[in-house]
Amino acid sequence: MLAIRAGVAVPEVVRSFLMKNNPLPRLDATSEWRDRLLPHCRLKFGDIWQDPEGKHRVGCLDATDSEAVSALVDGLSPTLAIQDPPYNLVAFERRSIQEYIDWSRCWVRITHAVLAEHASLYVWLGADQNDGFQPLADFIVMMRQEPLAPRSFITMRNQRGYGTQKNWMAVRQELLYYTKGNPVFNVEAEYTDIPKILRGYYKDVNGVLTENLERGKADTIRAGNVWVDVQQVFYRMEENVSGCYAQKPLKSVERIMRASSNKGDAILDLFAHSGSTLLAAEILGRSCLTADIDPVFCEISIRRLEHYRRTGKLGWQNGHPFEREVSEPVTTGKVAAPRRRREQPAERTLF
Ligand SMILES: C[S@@+](CC[C@H](N)C(=O)[O-])C[C@H]1O[C@@H](n2cnc3c(N)ncnc32)[C@H](O)[C@@H]1O
Repeated sequence: MLAIRAGVAVPEVVRSFLMKNNPLPRLDATSEWRDRLLPHCRLKFGDIWQDPEGKHRVGCLDATDSEAVSALVDGLSPTLAIQDPPYNLVAFERRSIQEYIDWSRCWVRITHAVLAEHASLYVWLGADQNDGFQPLADFIVMMRQEPLAPRSFITMRNQRGYGTQKNWMAVRQELLYYTKGNPVFNVEAEYTDIPKILRGYYKDVNGVLTENLERGKADTIRAGNVWVDVQQVFYRMEENVSGCYAQKPLKSVERIMRASSNKGDAILDLFAHSGSTLLAAEILGRSCLTADIDPVFCEISIRRLEHYRRTGKLGWQNGHPFEREVSEPVTTGKVAAPRRRREQPAERTLF
């Protein structure tokens, strides 16, 4: 059978060779797979991995344990923290919103304590439209008591949404930006690849009538605080890390890092998961101090860095990080390809 791609006939057999079809299932959906991967993880809870190249550290620790986070940071002063805590209250744990906010306050204070005098904090969070826009709503209120200045409320538009015929489709990812002291903001990081199309907006500048394109710093638009140009990660993208259910696109992490840090800076991320912050730091010449409570995600993050250093690849597309140890196709047997997703109840799938 032939498949046509860009006008060229590509035999199906070649196509399947080009893209593996051997993903891990979502690791929050199956304890069976976590148990199989655990023996292949080099960190156990409490360990810190030191990058042999001396650039990064990965800790297997609890973000609310101040001693463990201090050990991770050990002598460095991160100028930027990018925190992406779990916020699916149901899948994560059955916590009340108050418990969740108390827990958040704890890692926010620990983050604040280890950040440099002038630093930025970004927090990815969700707003459940079926539950009073929580936890975002109470998180924002909680943050008013903390010594960090609120600077921006960014929304990134996902391509896939959780649809319903009776409400607006939920396609947003919220990103809060706070500062401590007076940190760097590199505005050029904000420019997208989207050309400016608005013309003919004239203004008098020092007696000269100028058109808006003449006045602008670039031919492309600024991302502003609504990001519509970031592709959500899915299985055809090289950066995809199957098994990870909450992976943030590298483009979004790189944008944050370019805007709010400089080369050589230390970056903190206490919720590593697929290691997107670690990889972005490697690519952009920063040093990353990252952690996850789960040894499997610590291992995935370290492997992603090593895989990039070895091959230049950003992820495994539709393969997976444990192919050496788990060689049989994951898709055989009872575990189905993860991206042909089970229907999720729309109101309960927020990461
Ligand atoms: C939303 S994911 C982070 C996604 C990540 N930004 C990425 O792009 O891959 C949250 C991660 O936090 C981890 N986690 C949950 N509770 C934690 C805790 N108390 N301390 C550290 N990590 C925790 C989970 O294991 C999960 O991998």
